[in-house]
Amino acid sequence: MVRITLVRGDITAQQADAIVNAANSSLLGGGGVDGAIHRKGGPEILAACEDLRRGHYGKGLPTGRAVATTAGRLAAEHVIHTVGPVWSREEDRSELLASCYRESLRVADELGARTVAFPAISTGIYGWPMDDGARIAVRTVLSARTDVQEVRFVLFDEAAHAAFEAAVEATR
Ligand code: AR6
Repeated sequence: MVRITLVRGDITAQQADAIVNAANSSLLGGGGVDGAIHRKGGPEILAACEDLRRGHYGKGLPTGRAVATTAGRLAAEHVIHTVGPVWSREEDRSELLASCYRESLRVADELGARTVAFPAISTGIYGWPMDDGARIAVRTVLSARTDVQEVRFVLFDEAAHAAFEAAVEATR
């Protein structure tokens, strides 16, 4: 089974086989984690994303899917871009959020990655409530069939860290 570790910090500083980007379907950058990854990783990542848009993902990467690129100047080997759902009061989009974690791990397996760092997908600009986002993240990772050995959730602030701690505790 995957080992989950929780750290507070900046995902762009992580040494891992792959780090996951909370991207949008354009793959061409944005704010939050996405902005930080492109800023610190340099233009190689954007160039790879533009190639994907010219090729297989002409209409963009659908919500819940994942795709890998180089990590440019970052310490990680690869960036896995995934598109979280925007939180909605009217519609339950939990399955799409779970799919982001599952699909990212599937891509990580294709890359042979053993250590993967995730942010709390959708819980920033996309508005997903942190406690629920943490619960979905932890449950999905623990139930995934994958060869990834360590999933490291990299949480930006104390509230996010506490939410993930509670979510892990709830599975024990
Ligand atoms: N390291 C770790 N976590 C971070 C970092 C960081 N450097 N920066 C923010 N967070 P967000 P989303 C936390 O907004 O909600 C972009 O414009 C943040 O506090 O990055 O999936 C994309 O292009 C929050 O808990 O992603 C999309 O348009 C979590 O990471 C859109 O935002 C995710 O916040 C995606 O929104």
